[in-house]
Amino acid sequence: MSKSSLPVVLSGIQPSGHLCIGNYLGAIKNWVAMQETHDCIFLVVDLHALTVQQVPAELRRRCLSFVAQYVACGIDPERSTIVMQSHVPQHAELAWVLSTLTYMGELNRMTQFKDKSQRHASNINAGLFTYPILMAADILLYQANAVPVGADQKQHLELARDIAGRFNQRYSETFTMPEPFIPGTGARIMSLQDPSSKMSKSDENLNSLIALLDKPDVVRAKLRRAVTDSEKEIRFDPEKKPGVANLLTIHSALSGESIPALEAHFAGRLYSALKEETAEVIIEALRPIQTRYDAVMADKKVLEGILAQGAESAYRRARRTLSKVYRKIGLVPPAAR
Ligand code: TYM
Repeated sequence: MSKSSLPVVLSGIQPSGHLCIGNYLGAIKNWVAMQETHDCIFLVVDLHALTVQQVPAELRRRCLSFVAQYVACGIDPERSTIVMQSHVPQHAELAWVLSTLTYMGELNRMTQFKDKSQRHASNINAGLFTYPILMAADILLYQANAVPVGADQKQHLELARDIAGRFNQRYSETFTMPEPFIPGTGARIMSLQDPSSKMSKSDENLNSLIALLDKPDVVRAKLRRAVTDSEKEIRFDPEKKPGVANLLTIHSALSGESIPALEAHFAGRLYSALKEETAEVIIEALRPIQTRYDAVMADKKVLEGILAQGAESAYRRARRTLSKVYRKIGLVPPAAR
């Protein structure tokens, strides 16, 4: 089947902090699998990352490193389109149009906005508030059918669907209705230090997350320090035993063993056994990614080539949608120059 007749997948990650196993299990692992059956576009959403203050040189370095990590995880640039969001100006342009179709009350309800404004109380900027509109633009610009994300992005995706529906109703069918694609296991990996909150790649406490580039000794040390509880039993109970449940989830998502099989395997054993074995499962999963990462990063020209190719193909598609949108809402098309 030609690529253009396949359903479209779109997803993205903000280049902030350290890409972590939460991002891998919630999103990237599905991205890799979906390349077989979908026409995929994967973004590094650098414009989104500006909603928290960044150090310019670090941001620049991290953006390229994220592209290399996508490739290292198995995203094939020959098959999928890898795009730096800021290379395609239509993202920001469509976001403006969509902002005129989005209500303040809808944005006020976004839990990520509430969380982030608490964490960055000194920088509650307008971009942080309108961020979900830019995300809707990312998705709708490419007429995406499916959006593979972790559970925390579900609310944003519902907003994107509401905005798409509103536009289609007002101006006739224009946008494809995107469906969330959320994994059964690994949709919400929790912090190793506070298992009541999600693992976040930008957490300042690096012990709370496993970065994709963490070396084996670092992984072992972080797992040893992982917060569990004062009981002894290894049992999957996210309510009462969130730390233990989180380790079982990570193990299961990476090893492919079911949770009941792991509960049986660890019956009567100490928490230290669960921690040690989970550390080894993580190390084995990260080993090939780290080897490929080093190879990809060794040649910056290849990375820049991937981005140039991605931008060209994405630009063509994005321009098509945006022209249609401008026409439908009544803007006068520019005369040929
Ligand atoms: P971001 O950058 O916070 O996270 C990237 C992806 O990783 C998933 N994720 C997790 N999954 C499981 N457990 C966790 N602890 C965990 N932490 C993060 C997220 O659900 C996400 O899939 N707004 C988005 C980025 C974005 C986007 C888009 C996504 C911008 N435009 C268009 C999809 C489509 C975000 O901040 O993700």
